Amino acid sequence: MLVRAEPGSLTLTFDGRPIPAREGDSVASALLAAGVQVTRHTPRGGVARGPYCMMGACFECLAEVDGVPNVQTCMTPVRDGMVVASQDGARTLGGAAGGDGERDGAAAGP
Ligand code: FES
Repeated sequence: MLVRAEPGSLTLTFDGRPIPAREGDSVASALLAAGVQVTRHTPRGGVARGPYCMMGACFECLAEVDGVPNVQTCMTPVRDGMVVASQDGARTLGGAAGGDGERDGAAAGP
């Protein structure tokens, strides 16, 4: 777990919990620094997922940010007052149900 010497002057909320952040943080880095490791649960099996690659490649860090679902929190700069919520189930593409929402290999497939 990351430990910060200084918490920062910004605050976002995650599932109603205040999370301190610093200017220049991504939402994911602020969450990880606050000990939050799970941002979503998979559609199949409800397996916990959270930030992994921290560079926009794995999509494990998806969460709802200011009411917008399926936001890659590792690629989203933090702003003071952001409201972030974990999400469950399949992500959608363009508002329609898309794919199976899985990237876990073992759970995906026919
Ligand atoms: S942590 Fe991999 S896309 Fe965000």
